Amino acid sequence: MTSVLPRPVVSTEPVARPRHYLMCRPEHFEVRYAINPWMRPGEPVDRERALAQWDTLRQTYLDLGHRVDLIDPVPGLPDMVYAANGATVVDGMVFGARFRHRERAAEAAAHRGWFTAAGYPVVEPEFVNEGEGDLLAIGSGDDGVVLAGHGFRTDPRAHAEVAAVFGREVVPLELVDPCFYHLDTAIAVLDDSTIAWLPAAFTPASQDVLRTRFPDAVVADPADAAVLGLNAVSDGRHVVLPAQATGLAAALRERGYTPVPVDLSELLKGGGGPKCCTLEVR
Ligand code: ARG
Repeated sequence: MTSVLPRPVVSTEPVARPRHYLMCRPEHFEVRYAINPWMRPGEPVDRERALAQWDTLRQTYLDLGHRVDLIDPVPGLPDMVYAANGATVVDGMVFGARFRHRERAAEAAAHRGWFTAAGYPVVEPEFVNEGEGDLLAIGSGDDGVVLAGHGFRTDPRAHAEVAAVFGREVVPLELVDPCFYHLDTAIAVLDDSTIAWLPAAFTPASQDVLRTRFPDAVVADPADAAVLGLNAVSDGRHVVLPAQATGLAAALRERGYTPVPVDLSELLKGGGGPKCCTLEVR
């Protein structure tokens, strides 16, 4: 008799992994210089609102079961809320940042101090790199690589340093649109092998690299990227993204992810979203 038992279903459900994040409260947040096209120094920023929106982001991570550590905000460093730029951490090893603009230069030492005090080994960079803004780790173990943006901030010569520090393959990706000046504004890492991205943010050669490596990628709509929708933080299942990126949220839901929208409209005035505010301590 032929069996009528259903075949076991192979689950492809995205799986969440608890994460460890470092964040910096926007106590000194303001827009008083412009180092990216989103920043308009004349336009008022509501700091109370920025603080409330940031608190919600932090609480969202805690509610998802993640750990959030805080680095003390430093007066005079209004962009320090964008903690992702302060370092890159892979397998407990910290590669320090070095900022392109002098306005942010001192953030690197603040992060170095935090990680050193927390007992992490910190490697100092020689060339400009803006931390996880441009260096996105994806995958783990031998399959792990670092997607490395350049074109606006991070110096391509930093890529060899990254490869040496983390012992991982580094995939250089060239950005072309000043609105997407950091890699984390043009690519969201969704899980160990999936990204969401905006092709138009890259040179044709880099687009080819990404299409070959990530044939299953979620391709974002320009409208969603234009509200920094790709500046998202995923735990493998829950994707915390700007509330305004409704099309991307729908596309993610269709793929089995759980979008978690947050409104960071005040912090968008500095050119950042959820991912910019979140440094992952891997
Ligand atoms: N105003 C900051 C800058 O231009 C925003 C940084 C956003 N961070 C990020 N990871 N994309 O440097």
